[in-house]
Amino acid sequence: MAIRTLGKAAALTGALLLGAGTRAQTVDAKAIVMGGAANGANACSACHGDQGEGRPEAGFPRLAGLNPDYIVQQLNDLASGARANETMTPIAKALSPAERTALGAYLAGLQPPAAPVEPKPEEKVVAEGKKIALQGLWDKDLPQCVSCHGAGGVGVGVNFPKLAGQSAQYIANQLDAWKTGKRTNDPLHLMTGVASKLDDSQIAAVAAYFESLSPVAAGGAQ
Ligand code: HEC
Ligand code: HEC
Repeated sequence: MAIRTLGKAAALTGALLLGAGTRAQTVDAKAIVMGGAANGANACSACHGDQGEGRPEAGFPRLAGLNPDYIVQQLNDLASGARANETMTPIAKALSPAERTALGAYLAGLQPPAAPVEPKPEEKVVAEGKKIALQGLWDKDLPQCVSCHGAGGVGVGVNFPKLAGQSAQYIANQLDAWKTGKRTNDPLHLMTGVASKLDDSQIAAVAAYFESLSPVAAGGAQ
């Protein structure tokens, strides 16, 4: 076979490309979530939960109910390095395009309740975060988070992900990643601008607020 004459990396790429067309019908996304993929991707459930509910305290995000195309986009960006994360990058790289698509569709369709969070944040912190989320910080030219992420943080289409019920630790990690240039794949660098205007206590407050909202409220993910 001609493919044997190619270098190892090229042969692997070839296998993925060949696989993309032929395996699209047969990828069992649930099996990958629960048990990992043959090509080395770890079981998603170990970190993101059996139902994609996430592990809030560890900063492992909730994936259930996110827009399917957003999930695929993030896996592609994590694999290409446009979004850097030492845990997720090798896992994303190990998934074929067909597996990413199947996982996006499967995870988007799950609706588990929020994973429990302990200890609960102070009410006054959540209230400060609510103010930033719903009113913005006009002295800093910061628009309301909900103007892009939708009322109640339910998310808008593929570009503006759902924040309701997302792990506060994860939200804070992302805002830090934009501030420090570790995550740079945001369309038009909208989030780089937003994150640069928030200090640590404002980040903690707005993250606590979005975590406190129900991820399965009426209106849904899309
Ligand atoms: C060892 C733990 C671990 C495993 C296993 C794991 N993930 Fe992740 N995942 C993470 C962490 C940590 C992040 C957050 C990265 C960051 O902070 O940028 C993440 C982020 C993500 C994101 C981005 C979510 C968003 O809102 O942007 C997606 C999508 C994702 N993982 C999918 C998967 C899939 C699919 C699998 C299984 C094939 C998987 N992960 C397995 C730890 C893990
Ligand atoms: C001008 C529009 C806009 C505003 C305002 C905005 N965002 Fe975003 N946000 C985005 C876009 C676009 C993305 C998707 C980035 C990507 O695809 O990498 C995003 C992504 C995020 C993510 C990553 C979610 C995930 O699943 O990985 C977090 C966290 C976030 N925003 C928090 C906030 C907070 C908190 C505020 C208010 C302080 C806010 N955003 C205001 C446009 C906006």
